[in-house]
Amino acid sequence: MKFIVGNWKMNGTLSDKEALFKSLKNLHTDNKVVVCLPFILLGGNDYGITLGAQDVSEHDNGAFTGDISGQMLKDADVKYVVVGHSERRANHNETNAIVKAKATAAIKNGIIPIICIGETTEEKNSGRTMTVIKKMLLESVPAKGEYIVAYEPRWAIGSGKIPTSDEIAMAFETISKALHSIKRSDIALLYGGSVNAKNAAQIASIKNVDGLLVGGASLKSDTFLPIIKSVE
Ligand code: PGA
Repeated sequence: MKFIVGNWKMNGTLSDKEALFKSLKNLHTDNKVVVCLPFILLGGNDYGITLGAQDVSEHDNGAFTGDISGQMLKDADVKYVVVGHSERRANHNETNAIVKAKATAAIKNGIIPIICIGETTEEKNSGRTMTVIKKMLLESVPAKGEYIVAYEPRWAIGSGKIPTSDEIAMAFETISKALHSIKRSDIALLYGGSVNAKNAAQIASIKNVDGLLVGGASLKSDTFLPIIKSVE
């Protein structure tokens, strides 16, 4: 069993959701499939698909216009939430401390945060990948509770470029060791960044990789289902 998590980002309509969920409902798989939708598409889950969100407030409630709390997500039957995606870190100035607070808020409401980390092109080119991801990881994870970590090199997101298998294996070893050092060897680890039906099975078979976080290819059944089927 591997996790296959779709991240729709700011894409998709209600009818796109209906179409994908209908085809997912008819799919027999041992994998744990989760679809992280834009907030507005989360309501109503007639097909019983495991729902995820793409952000959560670090606050319980109050004067935070435009934000959504963990309690609200829980009410909408959300089981997972992506926190600290590189697009939120870059576009909304989310620091490791904010990501940690958001992950903690999710856990408090019974939602499993999927905490994203990953290096930029510049950090990769200067040979700092392992140092950068280790620091991001240790500063972003909550002190306790269940969470998932997603390694997504920023340069691999939406670019069609992926790291070599050796590079992925090395990053996952670094992450596993860092988690081991804080006594969290139980944490599931995902790879994300330009996953498609051609590379999914290979990436998912790399040591320590427990699943995949899929962006663009998760929007339609003709690209998402072949990924799910290729990974068992
Ligand atoms: P991508 O996005 O699969 O479109 O590269 C992955 C992500 O950002 O989670």
